[in-house]
Amino acid sequence: MLIIKDIHNLKLYIDTYEKKGYSMGYVPTMGSLHVGHGELIRKSKEDNQKTIISIFVNEKQFDNPDDYKNYPRNRGKDYDFCDKYDVDIIFEPSNEEIYKEKQKMLINKNFQNILCDKFRPGHFNGVITVLEKLFLITKAKKVYFGEKDYQQFKIVQSFAQSAFKNLSIISVPTVRQEDGIAFSSRNENLSKKQLQEFVKFHNNTCLFISELDQNIAIADANILARDFIKAQNIDRFDYFEFRNSNNLSSEGIISEARLFYAIYKGEVRLIDNLNLTT
Ligand code: PAJ
Repeated sequence: MLIIKDIHNLKLYIDTYEKKGYSMGYVPTMGSLHVGHGELIRKSKEDNQKTIISIFVNEKQFDNPDDYKNYPRNRGKDYDFCDKYDVDIIFEPSNEEIYKEKQKMLINKNFQNILCDKFRPGHFNGVITVLEKLFLITKAKKVYFGEKDYQQFKIVQSFAQSAFKNLSIISVPTVRQEDGIAFSSRNENLSKKQLQEFVKFHNNTCLFISELDQNIAIADANILARDFIKAQNIDRFDYFEFRNSNNLSSEGIISEARLFYAIYKGEVRLIDNLNLTT
């Protein structure tokens, strides 16, 4: 396994892989790796001869400087993790390496003003800005994204369709812990008590969904969702609502929807989305 810090060297290795005709899969991450990331790696390894993972905590996608500062970083463990999953290359650039000159930000034009885009203005501009660079550097043909960040997946898919025509964006279902919550780097910032309360909240939410009639309109389910969330033991929430899985609108019935939420336990922001079979 190679750990490469600079674009120049990465390109040399990628060119060699290309010359040898290897298929390459790419998994972009911000590190603090867990089983959810592992599943993206596993899928890439299943589909390709070589797998490249990047670890880069992208300051440009954080709307809050404290959130950037407190984002978990976990170097040594991440290397061991990648080794265990038999990754071929870890690309771990510095800020200066990625943002050499004054960076022109790309503006996201898809799935705007809803869900995370509404509550973290500019976040997805930062995401597509860094991904454009990383897609170009890695010469990616197949890139793997988790459904855990479903709006991100939809935005990147739309972005790639217009800007990277030969690139396949492959989605991987959310990987969950035994207690039902999604694996997430941010879970590390929860106290034991907060974690227990979050599991309880998650289980209540699953029960709430399972008791709904699958044929009710998304708009009607959202009225019930508003009452449900008010009664929960959480510190605050940005959104808790059903949206159509295809186009993220509020049209249709709930069997074609997912429930999206962003809630807070203390200062920790936790997002997830659940389809009716989760
Ligand atoms: P990060 O939060 O590290 O996530 C990297 C990838 O892992 C994303 O595609 C995310 O959806 C996926 N992932 C996280 N938890 C998962 C889980 N429990 N099950 C399945 N997949 C999971 O998302 C980012 O980083 C950044 O925005 C990035 C795309 C790297 C751009 O900076």
